[in-house]
Amino acid sequence: MKINGTAYRTIWLGDDGWSVEIIDQTRLPHEFVTARLATMEDAAVAIKTMQVRGAPLIGATAAYGVCLALREDASDEALEAAVAHLAEQRPTAVNLRWALDEMLHAVRNLPREDRVAAAYARAARLCEEDVETCRMIGVHGLKLIEEIAARKAPGEPVNVLTHCNAGWIACVDWGTATSPVYQAHDKGIQMHVWVDETRPRNQGASLTAYELGAHGVPHTIVVDNAGGHLMQHGKVDVVIVGTDRVTANGDVCNKIGTYLKALAAKDNDIPFYVALPHSTIDWQLDDGFLIPIEERSSDEVLKMPGRLADGSVVTVEIAAPGSGAGNPAFDVTPARLVSGLITERGVCEASKEGLDRLYGDRD
Ligand code: MRU
Repeated sequence: MKINGTAYRTIWLGDDGWSVEIIDQTRLPHEFVTARLATMEDAAVAIKTMQVRGAPLIGATAAYGVCLALREDASDEALEAAVAHLAEQRPTAVNLRWALDEMLHAVRNLPREDRVAAAYARAARLCEEDVETCRMIGVHGLKLIEEIAARKAPGEPVNVLTHCNAGWIACVDWGTATSPVYQAHDKGIQMHVWVDETRPRNQGASLTAYELGAHGVPHTIVVDNAGGHLMQHGKVDVVIVGTDRVTANGDVCNKIGTYLKALAAKDNDIPFYVALPHSTIDWQLDDGFLIPIEERSSDEVLKMPGRLADGSVVTVEIAAPGSGAGNPAFDVTPARLVSGLITERGVCEASKEGLDRLYGDRD
């Protein structure tokens, strides 16, 4: 997608052909800065500190982290240590484990001297596959938006509500929840997106609004608690969110607050869709409540970064001194609240039967 007229992806190889460049998401929306990852530890830190974030992108970064590790030491021991270390940086999004498994599969049985080239080839392919997968999610999601648009009066936009950032910044390109929106907008359908600010890290206000704005998609940032009110007043046609892990029974784990949006959507008879690539499905779990939920630092709740009038970015405290804070980063929306899963293979019911229908040929 484009930023100031220049096409970007979120991760790419540097001019030296081996180091890895990323967009540093901790600096957005105030500054567009890229960062160079030259070691496996750089990749691990980028994932942990959320310089890169969003389920598909942390998988892609971990894949390149394995490449960087193997450049230094291509032994079995180094490979296993790198995979274990990268995997533990964020516990909830299953794409991280999926990508590392793919990398292990690609290099494990090769002689040491062939491992680095094979790893870079697999990581590059994984990124290309993510782009195509997200594009196809958009193709299938577009049909849902077209159906809503067909029921609208001329000139009335389709109002989508989304939570967190499941946009191209969270993937390699296109995004999951945003891919149908971009494709509808590019086709000339009038779109408007309600962007949940997504406390505590404000991925909606800082990232989703940033990328929608850069692409020219009309949008409005709302506080996380506004969604129910907007739905009650007929201002939301459809909710589309991304996900960090969908279990085999169709339960959806996503950024904290998603569950409340699903409840409000159900109460107001508004369709609630979840967009995801196959790499987000955890076939080993059949109950969303078994997913480990990341607990993050209380600082994310008690402090807030922002830009001053002179352009400098500072972090301020927003709570009474001495108060503690809890910070569960994700919640689980039970499958019964989900209208459908938008995947690269089509839209299915959020259930074992629905997922089996689309992915019956899985390994
Ligand atoms: O903690 P984050 O910012 O990595 O959480 C990201 C989300 O919850 C996204 O909605 C999810 O990863 C889907 S990204 C296509």
